[in-house]
Amino acid sequence: MADRYDLVVIGAGPGGYVAAIRAAQLGLKVACVEKRATLGGVCLNIGCIPSKAMLDSSELFSLAQHKFAKHGIKLAGVELDLKAMLSRKDDVVKGLTDGVKFLFRKNKIDTLFGAATLASPTSVKVKLNEGGETTLDAGHILLATGSAPIELPFLKFDGKVVVSSTEALTFEKVPEHLVIVGGGYIGLELGSVWRRLGSKVTVVEFLPRIVPIADLELGTLLHKSLVKQGLEFFLETKVTGAKVVGNKATVIAEGKDGKPLSFDCDKVLVCVGRRPYSEGLGLSEVGVAVDSKSGKVTTDRHFHTNVPSISAIGDLIDGPMLAHKAEDEGIAFAEILAGKAGHVNYDTIPSVIYTWPEMASVGLTEEQAKAKGLDYKVGKFPFAANGRARTMDETEGLVKILADAKTDRVLGVHIIGPRASDLIAEAVTTMEFAGSSEDIARICHSHPTLSEAVKEAALAVDKRAIHA
Ligand code: FAD
Ligand code: NAI
Repeated sequence: MADRYDLVVIGAGPGGYVAAIRAAQLGLKVACVEKRATLGGVCLNIGCIPSKAMLDSSELFSLAQHKFAKHGIKLAGVELDLKAMLSRKDDVVKGLTDGVKFLFRKNKIDTLFGAATLASPTSVKVKLNEGGETTLDAGHILLATGSAPIELPFLKFDGKVVVSSTEALTFEKVPEHLVIVGGGYIGLELGSVWRRLGSKVTVVEFLPRIVPIADLELGTLLHKSLVKQGLEFFLETKVTGAKVVGNKATVIAEGKDGKPLSFDCDKVLVCVGRRPYSEGLGLSEVGVAVDSKSGKVTTDRHFHTNVPSISAIGDLIDGPMLAHKAEDEGIAFAEILAGKAGHVNYDTIPSVIYTWPEMASVGLTEEQAKAKGLDYKVGKFPFAANGRARTMDETEGLVKILADAKTDRVLGVHIIGPRASDLIAEAVTTMEFAGSSEDIARICHSHPTLSEAVKEAALAVDKRAIHA
């Protein structure tokens, strides 16, 4: 007889594992099926965590080379030990993926390592990694199988020279010349890593700007900063193919004016977005509807698919492909399943690009506010006028707040600068509580901190910043 569960979760990424834990906390009997050998999904294994580990290590390497002397610290012969850097990254990943295993045990969640297929609307067949097969009966099934990199038909991944982010997190040697196709999140983060470690980095972007989703003013500042750091950009440039010979490639592209371009390099990182991952899941067999254009599983606001006993969350469904979005959906899903209220406010999901300076945003960009015909005010404050930023010698960037001209309600906040990733939390909280720029301006911020730049930008909405 098949094992019976209240909930079977397919995929142990930040969406699936968080949903499993919350459902177990709420008293449901839960199993989670994961086909990778470790838990944590893309995020912990080959995404957020290893990329941030490499960003943090390469940032320290860069500081030691270029910044310490200004702080009066003399270092002789700063050298890269790439093997040790990669191994530290692997240790961080192992610690966190083992942590999820511990949390599953603690919450009495049964874990099955193997590939899951929907056998019916209420049962899941698992081809176990250790061999053999089993079937689980489920009161409810949650699909949380995430996403995979988009492959360009004329530039197929070979895992050695033409690679995705997964391989670009594990290069054993610093590439001499890394060509990156796509100037979005992955291109800029991993481009920064390898540039800091010594590669020549060329980013080829299809659109006239990098990070197309960002506020244009901040995106332009980030572009300029990355150019100063030595990254080379070709915008409005269309890659049309590549010739790979041995360990080298020549990437062929068409420039702005139709001009033919070619780049000789030793690695090509293709990062032009990700697609929902549902191979082998058996969606069509049980009649789960997917969007014909994006391939994403169609859900309502409560994560129900068209099949009543099957729900879906995370990168597999509509919305930004971000770990915290997947996690919040996992919690909301579990609470709804257990008969409680659960919801995700999609208007206040922050996004962060972990370059240096970091860039973080929540809410509307200025372009979106304009397109909506909103009457808005803007307050900006530069980190150059912030005391803590000066003590850190990290004065690049600014905070920009958009507020409704009439009600003063905060519409969007965009930060480029040191630790923007942490600073954005205050903006998210304010927006979640439908707060105003006046609210931020009246809150006492410790001195000297970077957070004072957020307060000053709020004061600047009414042209009353004190320190600029
Ligand atoms: P996933 O994390 O993709 O997990 C899905 C899991 O399901 C996988 O482990 C997969 O093996 C498993 N699975 C799939 N099919 C089956 C099956 N049939 N049976 C069993 N198991 C199956 N987001 C951020 O918010 N911040 C970041 O800094 C960030 N950095 C990133 C860096 C990189 C290089 C990449 C690639 C992504 C990054 N992301 C980041 C995005 C983030 O990783 C994803 O948004 C997040 O992992 C999505 O979570 P998920 O639970 O939906 O799916
Ligand atoms: P992306 O969507 O961020 O960027 C892709 C870029 O490639 C865009 O600028 C796009 O215009 C460009 N592009 C598309 N087709 C192209 C082509 N043929 N030639 C040249 N350029 C082309 O996608 P990316 O970087 O692959 O990342 C995937 C997703 O993973 C992100 O959208 C994000 O959701 C997630 N992620 C999040 C991170 C974070 O939160 N810090 C870090 C890394 C990934």
